[in-house]
Amino acid sequence: MKITLTSKPKAKPDFTKLGFGKYFTDHMLLMEYHNGVWGEPEIIPYDDFKMSPATNILHYGQGIFEGVKAYKDNNGKITTFRIDENIKRMNKSAERLCMPTLDADVVIPAIFELIKIEKDWIPTESGTALYIRPTMIADDPMLGVHAAHNYKFFVILSPVGAYYANGLQPTKIMVEEHFVRAPLGGTGEAKCMGNYAASLLASEIAMSKGYDQVLWLDAVEHKYAEEVGAMNMFFVIDGEVITPALVGSILPGITRKSSIELLKSEGYKVTERRISLDEVAKAYDEGRLNEAFGTGTAAVVSPVGVIHYNGRDMIINNQEMGPITADLYEKLTGIQYGKREDKFGWIFKIN
Ligand SMILES: Cc1ncc(COP(=O)(O)O)c(C=O)c1O
Repeated sequence: MKITLTSKPKAKPDFTKLGFGKYFTDHMLLMEYHNGVWGEPEIIPYDDFKMSPATNILHYGQGIFEGVKAYKDNNGKITTFRIDENIKRMNKSAERLCMPTLDADVVIPAIFELIKIEKDWIPTESGTALYIRPTMIADDPMLGVHAAHNYKFFVILSPVGAYYANGLQPTKIMVEEHFVRAPLGGTGEAKCMGNYAASLLASEIAMSKGYDQVLWLDAVEHKYAEEVGAMNMFFVIDGEVITPALVGSILPGITRKSSIELLKSEGYKVTERRISLDEVAKAYDEGRLNEAFGTGTAAVVSPVGVIHYNGRDMIINNQEMGPITADLYEKLTGIQYGKREDKFGWIFKIN
Protein backbone atom coordinates (compact mmCIF):
# COMPACT_ATOMS: atom_id res chain seq x y z
CA MET A 1 0.00 0.00 0.00
CA LYS A 2 1.32 3.44 -0.91
CA ILE A 3 1.59 5.80 2.05
CA THR A 4 2.35 9.51 1.73
CA LEU A 5 2.73 11.28 5.05
CA THR A 6 1.88 14.94 5.51
CA SER A 7 4.64 17.46 5.99
CA LYS A 8 2.24 19.73 7.87
CA PRO A 9 0.60 17.88 10.80
CA LYS A 10 -2.22 19.86 12.39
CA ALA A 11 -2.44 20.95 16.03
CA LYS A 12 -4.64 18.51 17.96
CA PRO A 13 -7.89 19.82 19.44
CA ASP A 14 -8.65 19.83 23.18
CA PHE A 15 -9.73 16.19 23.70
CA THR A 16 -11.99 17.21 26.59
CA LYS A 17 -14.10 19.43 24.30
CA LEU A 18 -14.47 17.42 21.11
CA GLY A 19 -18.17 17.40 20.31
CA PHE A 20 -19.02 15.17 17.34
CA GLY A 21 -17.40 15.17 13.89
CA LYS A 22 -15.77 18.60 14.05
CA TYR A 23 -12.07 17.71 13.79
CA PHE A 24 -10.31 15.53 11.22
CA THR A 25 -6.94 13.82 11.44
CA ASP A 26 -3.89 14.43 9.23
CA HIS A 27 -4.39 11.59 6.74
CA MET A 28 -7.13 9.78 4.86
CA LEU A 29 -7.50 6.56 2.92
CA LEU A 30 -8.41 6.73 -0.76
CA MET A 31 -9.19 3.97 -3.25
CA GLU A 32 -10.52 4.54 -6.76
CA TYR A 33 -12.64 2.36 -9.01
CA HIS A 34 -12.04 2.57 -12.75
CA ASN A 35 -12.70 0.14 -15.64
CA GLY A 36 -14.59 -2.27 -13.40
CA VAL A 37 -11.90 -2.77 -10.74
CA TRP A 38 -10.80 -1.15 -7.52
CA GLY A 39 -7.24 0.20 -7.49
CA GLU A 40 -4.86 -0.13 -4.55
CA PRO A 41 -5.79 1.69 -1.34
CA GLU A 42 -3.54 4.66 -0.63
CA ILE A 43 -2.96 6.69 2.51
CA ILE A 44 -2.55 10.37 1.67
CA PRO A 45 -2.56 13.68 3.56
CA TYR A 46 -6.12 14.76 4.43
CA ASP A 47 -7.11 17.22 1.72
CA ASP A 48 -10.00 18.63 -0.31
CA PHE A 49 -11.22 16.81 -3.41
CA LYS A 50 -11.06 18.58 -6.71
CA MET A 51 -14.00 17.48 -8.85
CA SER A 52 -15.99 18.56 -11.86
CA PRO A 53 -19.23 20.38 -10.98
CA ALA A 54 -20.92 17.77 -13.21
CA THR A 55 -19.81 14.84 -10.99
CA ASN A 56 -22.87 12.70 -10.47
CA ILE A 57 -22.60 12.39 -6.68
CA LEU A 58 -23.29 16.13 -6.57
CA HIS A 59 -26.50 15.75 -8.58
CA TYR A 60 -28.08 12.38 -7.88
CA GLY A 61 -26.62 11.39 -4.52
CA GLN A 62 -25.27 7.97 -5.48
CA GLY A 63 -23.30 7.75 -2.27
CA ILE A 64 -23.12 5.54 0.83
CA PHE A 65 -21.23 5.64 4.09
CA GLU A 66 -20.56 3.90 7.39
CA GLY A 67 -19.72 4.83 10.96
CA VAL A 68 -17.36 2.81 13.19
CA LYS A 69 -15.31 3.67 16.27
CA ALA A 70 -11.75 2.89 17.37
CA TYR A 71 -10.67 3.00 21.01
CA LYS A 72 -7.31 3.30 22.76
CA ASP A 73 -6.76 2.09 26.30
CA ASN A 74 -4.30 3.50 28.83
CA ASN A 75 -1.62 1.06 27.65
CA GLY A 76 -1.91 2.34 24.07
CA LYS A 77 -3.75 -0.78 22.83
CA ILE A 78 -6.03 0.17 19.93
CA THR A 79 -9.18 -1.74 19.04
CA THR A 80 -12.27 -1.36 16.93
CA PHE A 81 -15.77 -2.76 17.33
CA ARG A 82 -17.34 -5.12 14.75
CA ILE A 83 -15.86 -3.35 11.73
CA ASP A 84 -16.49 -6.51 9.67
CA GLU A 85 -20.23 -5.87 10.14
CA ASN A 86 -19.85 -2.33 8.86
CA ILE A 87 -18.12 -3.46 5.69
CA LYS A 88 -20.79 -6.13 5.18
CA ARG A 89 -23.51 -3.51 5.58
CA MET A 90 -21.66 -1.13 3.26
CA ASN A 91 -21.61 -3.84 0.61
CA LYS A 92 -25.37 -4.30 1.00
CA SER A 93 -25.83 -0.54 0.66
CA ALA A 94 -23.56 -0.63 -2.42
CA GLU A 95 -25.70 -3.31 -4.05
CA ARG A 96 -28.88 -1.31 -3.39
CA LEU A 97 -27.34 1.82 -4.92
CA CYS A 98 -25.77 0.01 -7.94
CA MET A 99 -22.25 0.62 -6.65
CA PRO A 100 -19.25 -1.74 -6.61
CA THR A 101 -18.69 -3.82 -3.46
CA LEU A 102 -15.53 -3.81 -1.38
CA ASP A 103 -13.18 -6.64 -0.45
CA ALA A 104 -13.15 -6.63 3.37
CA ASP A 105 -9.74 -8.33 3.34
CA VAL A 106 -8.28 -5.34 1.52
CA VAL A 107 -10.24 -2.54 3.11
CA ILE A 108 -10.08 -3.51 6.81
CA PRO A 109 -6.25 -3.85 6.98
CA ALA A 110 -5.93 -0.55 5.06
CA ILE A 111 -8.20 1.20 7.58
CA PHE A 112 -6.17 -0.31 10.45
CA GLU A 113 -2.97 1.03 8.86
CA LEU A 114 -4.52 4.50 8.69
CA ILE A 115 -5.60 4.29 12.35
CA LYS A 116 -2.09 3.22 13.40
CA ILE A 117 -0.64 6.26 11.64
CA GLU A 118 -3.19 8.47 13.44
CA LYS A 119 -2.84 6.79 16.86
CA ASP A 120 -2.07 10.09 18.62
CA TRP A 121 -5.45 11.39 17.46
CA ILE A 122 -7.35 8.72 19.44
CA PRO A 123 -8.71 10.35 22.59
CA THR A 124 -8.75 8.28 25.78
CA GLU A 125 -11.10 10.38 27.96
CA SER A 126 -14.22 8.56 29.11
CA GLY A 127 -16.90 8.47 26.39
CA THR A 128 -14.52 9.56 23.61
CA ALA A 129 -13.30 7.56 20.60
CA LEU A 130 -11.90 7.90 17.10
CA TYR A 131 -14.85 7.91 14.72
CA ILE A 132 -14.15 6.22 11.39
CA ARG A 133 -16.17 7.35 8.37
CA PRO A 134 -15.83 5.06 5.31
CA THR A 135 -17.61 6.66 2.36
CA MET A 136 -18.18 5.75 -1.30
CA ILE A 137 -19.28 8.21 -3.97
CA ALA A 138 -20.12 8.12 -7.68
CA ASP A 139 -17.38 9.94 -9.56
CA ASP A 140 -18.32 10.40 -13.24
CA PRO A 141 -18.53 13.95 -14.66
CA MET A 142 -21.81 13.04 -16.35
CA LEU A 143 -25.39 14.28 -16.06
CA GLY A 144 -27.21 11.19 -17.34
CA VAL A 145 -29.28 9.51 -14.63
CA HIS A 146 -27.69 6.07 -14.43
CA ALA A 147 -25.17 4.25 -12.28
CA ALA A 148 -21.68 5.74 -12.52
CA HIS A 149 -18.68 3.87 -13.92
CA ASN A 150 -16.10 5.46 -11.63
CA TYR A 151 -16.17 5.62 -7.85
CA LYS A 152 -14.12 6.92 -4.96
CA PHE A 153 -13.93 5.06 -1.65
CA PHE A 154 -12.40 7.10 1.12
CA VAL A 155 -12.05 6.93 4.88
CA ILE A 156 -11.66 9.94 7.13
CA LEU A 157 -11.15 9.89 10.91
CA SER A 158 -12.51 12.23 13.56
CA PRO A 159 -11.79 12.24 17.30
CA VAL A 160 -15.21 12.50 18.96
CA GLY A 161 -16.84 13.04 22.32
CA ALA A 162 -20.46 12.40 23.23
CA TYR A 163 -22.89 12.50 20.28
CA TYR A 164 -25.48 14.50 22.20
CA ALA A 165 -24.39 17.73 23.84
CA ASN A 166 -26.00 16.53 27.08
CA GLY A 167 -24.01 13.28 27.15
CA LEU A 168 -25.96 10.54 28.91
CA GLN A 169 -28.85 12.82 29.90
CA PRO A 170 -32.07 11.24 28.62
CA THR A 171 -33.06 12.68 25.25
CA LYS A 172 -36.42 14.08 24.21
CA ILE A 173 -37.82 12.69 21.01
CA MET A 174 -40.80 13.70 18.94
CA VAL A 175 -42.79 11.11 17.03
CA GLU A 176 -43.09 12.33 13.43
CA GLU A 177 -46.69 11.79 12.42
CA HIS A 178 -46.61 13.43 8.97
CA PHE A 179 -43.25 13.01 7.19
CA VAL A 180 -41.79 9.53 6.72
CA ARG A 181 -38.19 8.37 6.49
CA ALA A 182 -38.45 5.34 4.23
CA PRO A 183 -41.19 3.29 2.58
CA LEU A 184 -40.91 -0.47 2.11
CA GLY A 185 -38.99 -1.07 -1.09
CA GLY A 186 -37.17 2.24 -0.66
CA THR A 187 -33.63 2.78 0.59
CA GLY A 188 -34.29 2.76 4.35
CA GLU A 189 -32.19 -0.37 4.88
CA ALA A 190 -29.21 1.16 3.09
CA LYS A 191 -26.91 3.69 4.69
CA CYS A 192 -27.18 6.06 1.76
CA MET A 193 -26.80 9.80 1.78
CA GLY A 194 -30.26 10.70 0.50
CA ASN A 195 -31.96 9.13 3.53
CA TYR A 196 -30.32 11.71 5.72
CA ALA A 197 -31.07 14.67 3.46
CA ALA A 198 -34.72 13.60 3.43
CA SER A 199 -34.82 13.48 7.23
CA LEU A 200 -33.56 17.01 7.88
CA LEU A 201 -36.82 18.95 7.68
CA ALA A 202 -38.58 16.83 10.31
CA SER A 203 -35.48 17.04 12.57
CA GLU A 204 -35.37 20.82 12.25
CA ILE A 205 -39.04 21.07 13.18
CA ALA A 206 -38.58 18.74 16.17
CA MET A 207 -35.56 20.72 17.35
CA SER A 208 -37.40 24.03 17.00
CA LYS A 209 -39.98 22.59 19.42
CA GLY A 210 -37.32 21.63 21.97
CA TYR A 211 -36.84 17.95 21.08
CA ASP A 212 -33.50 16.33 20.25
CA GLN A 213 -34.54 13.91 17.50
CA VAL A 214 -37.41 12.44 15.54
CA LEU A 215 -38.91 8.98 16.00
CA TRP A 216 -40.07 7.81 12.58
CA LEU A 217 -43.21 5.81 11.97
CA ASP A 218 -43.88 3.33 9.16
CA ALA A 219 -44.68 4.95 5.82
CA VAL A 220 -47.96 3.11 5.16
CA GLU A 221 -50.07 3.32 8.31
CA HIS A 222 -48.07 5.94 10.25
CA LYS A 223 -48.57 3.74 13.30
CA TYR A 224 -45.55 1.56 13.93
CA ALA A 225 -42.24 2.71 15.42
CA GLU A 226 -39.31 2.49 12.99
CA GLU A 227 -36.17 4.23 14.27
CA VAL A 228 -34.74 7.52 15.49
CA GLY A 229 -32.49 9.89 13.46
CA ALA A 230 -29.23 7.98 13.95
CA MET A 231 -30.36 5.26 16.35
CA ASN A 232 -32.49 2.14 16.54
CA MET A 233 -35.23 2.28 19.14
CA PHE A 234 -35.99 0.04 22.12
CA PHE A 235 -38.92 0.13 24.56
CA VAL A 236 -39.09 -1.72 27.88
CA ILE A 237 -42.67 -2.70 28.67
CA ASP A 238 -43.42 -4.85 31.72
CA GLY A 239 -39.72 -5.69 31.88
CA GLU A 240 -39.66 -7.02 28.29
CA VAL A 241 -37.30 -5.29 25.87
CA ILE A 242 -39.05 -4.68 22.54
CA THR A 243 -37.44 -3.30 19.39
CA PRO A 244 -39.01 -2.78 15.96
CA ALA A 245 -38.38 -5.76 13.66
CA LEU A 246 -36.16 -5.18 10.60
CA VAL A 247 -38.99 -5.05 8.11
CA GLY A 248 -36.97 -3.53 5.25
CA SER A 249 -37.30 0.20 5.90
CA ILE A 250 -35.09 0.36 9.02
CA LEU A 251 -31.30 0.52 9.12
CA PRO A 252 -30.03 -2.78 10.58
CA GLY A 253 -27.94 -1.18 13.31
CA ILE A 254 -24.83 -2.98 14.49
CA THR A 255 -25.30 -1.58 18.00
CA ARG A 256 -28.92 -2.82 17.81
CA LYS A 257 -27.77 -6.32 16.87
CA SER A 258 -25.08 -6.30 19.58
CA SER A 259 -27.53 -4.97 22.20
CA ILE A 260 -30.03 -7.73 21.42
CA GLU A 261 -27.33 -10.41 21.73
CA LEU A 262 -25.89 -8.91 24.89
CA LEU A 263 -29.26 -8.41 26.63
CA LYS A 264 -30.36 -11.95 25.74
CA SER A 265 -27.10 -13.38 27.08
CA GLU A 266 -27.76 -11.50 30.34
CA GLY A 267 -31.15 -13.22 30.62
CA TYR A 268 -33.41 -10.35 29.55
CA LYS A 269 -36.41 -11.11 27.39
CA VAL A 270 -35.89 -9.33 24.05
CA THR A 271 -38.46 -9.33 21.28
CA GLU A 272 -38.15 -8.01 17.74
CA ARG A 273 -41.60 -7.19 16.39
CA ARG A 274 -43.76 -4.40 15.06
CA ILE A 275 -44.76 -2.08 17.86
CA SER A 276 -47.26 0.73 17.40
CA LEU A 277 -47.05 4.05 19.19
CA ASP A 278 -50.61 3.46 20.39
CA GLU A 279 -49.36 0.33 22.16
CA VAL A 280 -46.50 2.34 23.69
CA ALA A 281 -48.96 5.08 24.78
CA LYS A 282 -51.33 2.51 26.30
CA ALA A 283 -48.46 0.91 28.23
CA TYR A 284 -47.46 4.41 29.39
CA ASP A 285 -50.98 5.19 30.62
CA GLU A 286 -51.09 1.89 32.48
CA GLY A 287 -47.70 2.51 34.07
CA ARG A 288 -46.09 -0.39 32.20
CA LEU A 289 -43.68 1.59 30.00
CA ASN A 290 -40.58 1.21 32.15
CA GLU A 291 -37.81 2.54 29.90
CA ALA A 292 -36.98 3.63 26.36
CA PHE A 293 -33.57 3.97 24.72
CA GLY A 294 -31.86 4.29 21.38
CA THR A 295 -28.73 2.50 20.15
CA GLY A 296 -26.18 3.60 17.56
CA THR A 297 -22.43 3.78 16.99
CA ALA A 298 -22.33 7.52 17.61
CA ALA A 299 -24.51 7.66 20.74
CA VAL A 300 -23.89 4.00 21.85
CA VAL A 301 -26.88 3.61 24.22
CA SER A 302 -28.92 6.73 24.77
CA PRO A 303 -31.76 6.83 27.31
CA VAL A 304 -34.98 8.46 26.10
CA GLY A 305 -36.70 10.58 28.76
CA VAL A 306 -39.57 12.07 26.77
CA ILE A 307 -41.58 10.78 23.81
CA HIS A 308 -43.96 13.31 22.28
CA TYR A 309 -46.86 11.57 20.57
CA ASN A 310 -50.41 12.50 19.72
CA GLY A 311 -50.24 15.94 21.28
CA ARG A 312 -48.62 15.10 24.61
CA ASP A 313 -45.28 14.38 26.23
CA MET A 314 -44.89 10.94 27.77
CA ILE A 315 -42.31 11.24 30.58
CA ILE A 316 -40.42 8.01 30.92
CA ASN A 317 -38.90 6.78 34.19
CA ASN A 318 -38.98 10.29 35.62
CA GLN A 319 -36.52 11.32 32.86
CA GLU A 320 -33.80 9.21 34.41
CA MET A 321 -31.77 6.42 32.87
CA GLY A 322 -33.54 3.14 33.72
CA PRO A 323 -31.81 0.01 35.10
CA ILE A 324 -31.86 -2.05 31.87
CA THR A 325 -30.55 0.90 29.82
CA ALA A 326 -27.82 1.47 32.42
CA ASP A 327 -26.88 -2.21 32.51
CA LEU A 328 -26.67 -2.38 28.72
CA TYR A 329 -24.66 0.84 28.54
CA GLU A 330 -22.21 -0.35 31.17
CA LYS A 331 -21.71 -3.80 29.62
CA LEU A 332 -21.53 -2.70 25.99
CA THR A 333 -19.14 0.19 26.60
CA GLY A 334 -17.22 -2.11 28.96
CA ILE A 335 -16.56 -4.47 26.04
CA GLN A 336 -15.84 -1.60 23.64
CA TYR A 337 -13.34 0.07 25.98
CA GLY A 338 -11.66 -3.23 26.88
CA LYS A 339 -12.80 -3.15 30.51
CA ARG A 340 -14.94 -6.29 30.17
CA GLU A 341 -14.25 -9.65 28.64
CA ASP A 342 -15.38 -9.85 25.00
CA LYS A 343 -16.96 -13.29 24.96
CA PHE A 344 -18.71 -12.51 21.67
CA GLY A 345 -15.58 -11.90 19.56
CA TRP A 346 -16.65 -8.36 18.64
CA ILE A 347 -13.34 -6.62 19.25
CA PHE A 348 -10.68 -6.30 16.54
CA LYS A 349 -7.15 -5.63 17.78
CA ILE A 350 -5.32 -3.06 15.66
CA ASN A 351 -1.88 -3.05 17.29
C1 LIG B 1 -30.71 5.87 10.51
C2 LIG B 1 -29.87 5.14 11.48
N1 LIG B 1 -30.43 4.17 12.24
C3 LIG B 1 -29.69 3.46 13.11
C4 LIG B 1 -28.34 3.68 13.28
C5 LIG B 1 -27.56 2.82 14.22
O1 LIG B 1 -26.74 1.94 13.52
P1 LIG B 1 -25.36 1.43 14.12
O2 LIG B 1 -25.67 0.83 15.44
O3 LIG B 1 -24.84 0.44 13.15
O4 LIG B 1 -24.49 2.63 14.25
C6 LIG B 1 -27.73 4.69 12.53
C7 LIG B 1 -26.30 4.96 12.67
O5 LIG B 1 -25.49 4.36 12.02
C8 LIG B 1 -28.50 5.42 11.59
O6 LIG B 1 -27.93 6.38 10.85
